[in-house]
Amino acid sequence: EKSEFGLFGLGVMGKSLSRNLAQKGFRISIFNREVKGKEEHVAIDFKNKHKELENAHAFSNIEKFVNSLQTPRKIMLMVNAGKITDMVIEDLLPYLSAGDVLIDGGNSNYIKTKERYDYLKSKGIHFFGVGVSGGEEGALKGPSIMPGGDKNTYNLVKPYLESIAAKDVNNLPCCTYIGEEGSGHFVKMVHNGIEYVEMQLLAEVFTILKTMGNNPDEIADILESWKPKAQSYLLSITIDILRKKDRNEWLIHKIVDKAGNKGTGNWTTIATAQLGVPGTLIASALFARYTSFYKDERIQASKHFEITSLPVNLEIKDVLNAYQFARIINHFQGIRLVSEAGKAYNWQLNLSEIARIWTNGCIIKSDLMAELIPVLKEDDNILKHQVIINQVKLLKPSINKVVAKCMLSELAIPCLSDAVNFLNNYANSRSSANIIQAQRDYFGAHTYQRTDDATGKFYHTNW
Ligand code: 6PG
Repeated sequence: EKSEFGLFGLGVMGKSLSRNLAQKGFRISIFNREVKGKEEHVAIDFKNKHKELENAHAFSNIEKFVNSLQTPRKIMLMVNAGKITDMVIEDLLPYLSAGDVLIDGGNSNYIKTKERYDYLKSKGIHFFGVGVSGGEEGALKGPSIMPGGDKNTYNLVKPYLESIAAKDVNNLPCCTYIGEEGSGHFVKMVHNGIEYVEMQLLAEVFTILKTMGNNPDEIADILESWKPKAQSYLLSITIDILRKKDRNEWLIHKIVDKAGNKGTGNWTTIATAQLGVPGTLIASALFARYTSFYKDERIQASKHFEITSLPVNLEIKDVLNAYQFARIINHFQGIRLVSEAGKAYNWQLNLSEIARIWTNGCIIKSDLMAELIPVLKEDDNILKHQVIINQVKLLKPSINKVVAKCMLSELAIPCLSDAVNFLNNYANSRSSANIIQAQRDYFGAHTYQRTDDATGKFYHTNW
């Protein structure tokens, strides 16, 4: 009997997703190339290791894999994003028929997804660019899934994607149709941008609490006490990380301070710049990682500049408030980016639904995200909602204090300081942009509008 769903690529995520599909009772075919060396029959070996894959069909031959599937075929690709994805598509194409559906579950660039969507459309093949978040464990137990592609074809893949997804508090799947073309991958990309900032903020909070004289266990206890107000997946894993010991020492002290990345934060920063959205925290979180990479130069510079990192005298409650403030600004900026992309590309996005599918399964799940579901039903701009306005006003004095004191102590807190700077800039009815306009007009005759002319007419002055 033919399988109803195919999974191509048995890396960490592919393996977990195929077990998840099989556990839900779907008859699946799995494929992996033969790898010369110790593990020759990756797909068969993997199938034999897991009871739930008893009825799955395992292949290392593409043609046999494709022919084992019911038509229209539904094949999910779990391969490395980039050139490999295109190569795999080309390898599969000769065996596919019109109406088949390819689903790319990797962290692909949304621009590439649009190109692949158009290319495959010309060949009669439907293409879905699907964001999958939650890492290995999420993929196995229920990830958050962000599918983008042709709306009418969504029904073909919906039963599979929605049954393997995590469930929200109301037992609804953390998977919803996002929109056309690359919208699913765009939304996943911004998810990662928000993730970069949430991670960086916790790193900055760690720096502050450490400089206040706490060891990693003490910092873990402090973060634990924040859970009622600031629960999130990233907070809870950070607590675990801080408690982890390696031969009687904190493991965290042994980890080299150079942060890697696989590109999604870079793309989010490019997208926010291209769409004219001030995603300042995302850029700062990305650039903090890049700065960390200059390890040798940093060691040199620390000798030249003698940065002191003086003990900082702060109340824990202010640090928590500053953290919460910056998280609100992060979510404002990230969601705003999704919203502006939706308008620019005509994707008709439902932001409240996107927040909902981000409440479980994914890396940025948090109590704050759950709070944003009703907020986003009213407006794309969360800073217009009275509940959020009240929170931000309450938290603001704390972040003012935290950032000011950290500056005097010479601590690097790029995302916390950007958050407060952003609001000071954003909530300013008369900013210094008049100076910029005057300068532009002075050297380039770029013209400016006048405060005493409501028609919006453009003027030029012979300076
Ligand atoms: C997720 C993660 C996941 C992954 C990224 C992180 O949602 O499950 O975002 O996609 O961990 O690869 O990317 P960096 O390597 O750039 O940190």
